[in-house]
Amino acid sequence: MALAPLPFDLRPLDGLSDDDLREALGAAFSDYLVPVRFDDREALAQFLRRQGVDLTLSMGAFRPDAPQLLGVVLLAPQWKASPPWMRLATLGIRPEARGLGVARPLLSAAIASAWSLGAEEMRLEVFAQNARALALYTAMGFKPLHRLYGYELELAQDAIADCPIPIPNRLDASTAQQWLQARQPQDQAFQMSASMVPLLPPDTLFWQSGQALLAGREPLPGQVTVSIAVDRSTGSADLQNLIRHWAFAAGPAPIHRFTVPALQAEHTGAVAWEMLGAERSPLFQWQMAMKRPA
Ligand SMILES: CC(C)(COP(=O)(O)OP(=O)(O)OC[C@H]1O[C@@H](n2cnc3c(N)ncnc32)[C@H](O)[C@@H]1OP(=O)(O)O)[C@@H](O)C(=O)NCCC(=O)NCCS
Repeated sequence: MALAPLPFDLRPLDGLSDDDLREALGAAFSDYLVPVRFDDREALAQFLRRQGVDLTLSMGAFRPDAPQLLGVVLLAPQWKASPPWMRLATLGIRPEARGLGVARPLLSAAIASAWSLGAEEMRLEVFAQNARALALYTAMGFKPLHRLYGYELELAQDAIADCPIPIPNRLDASTAQQWLQARQPQDQAFQMSASMVPLLPPDTLFWQSGQALLAGREPLPGQVTVSIAVDRSTGSADLQNLIRHWAFAAGPAPIHRFTVPALQAEHTGAVAWEMLGAERSPLFQWQMAMKRPA
């Protein structure tokens, strides 16, 4: 027997207290595929910044008879892009409100609002293994654009006998941001794009060579966390050079282990990690998109 739909009101989120939003997001993501924590206000603020969220455009489904938030859709406008587009930063429904007709109208309202504000396209990323979300986005008209892979690569320093040539350029953050703005593909995954550069920790290193840029940190010798990797060169030769150069030059560790989040598209550098023997992470994301209807 189908359950009766849950009544709710749709309202903007900007009047909501941080704690109420934190509680609702914490509940909605409590059983998510990867841990997402909203432990305190700073964790929430950091999440919203990294996702580019504009709360004045984002919406919540509220129970009509109580202040409880049943679900949220967070939107991140990209008005400076040409053409302008809207990123669906996330959608989450608290477990007890799922399957009760909240998700579709909430998402429909967000899509309608994106078109009415002038977006030409909507984009999102969703884990391929998140069958429920994938089914919902597909039913609402989103189409898969690119697979976004994550990697683990171990590179032994003695495997790189000579300094890789050409020697890359070390950039400061603002030059790296400008370089990305001018060269990143239009469909670059948001969290590996120029928009992320100002949010990266101050010890992030930026290396550039030819048509590739690699940004990351090495908080412990040999443990490299990659933030951004973009390459437009054939066979991703330029990114391979940057990765090998990092392992050769950056530190004294005998082995460098690079961790790449599930954001690396095939057409912007995934080949480089594969050619160097990296292991693909079991979880990958779909970048999905929907064009504004004519
Ligand atoms: C994803 C989410 C927002 C969907 O909300 P919901 O209320 O569960 O949505 P629905 O019950 O309408 O289900 C959505 C679709 O998935 C299908 N579905 C339900 N359970 C499913 C399952 N276990 N596996 C595959 N598909 C499933 C439904 O049939 C429905 O498809 P239909 O509209 O074609 O019938 C919600 O489950 C959620 O918050 N999950 C945790 C956070 C999350 O993953 N957010 C997305 C991040 S990108």
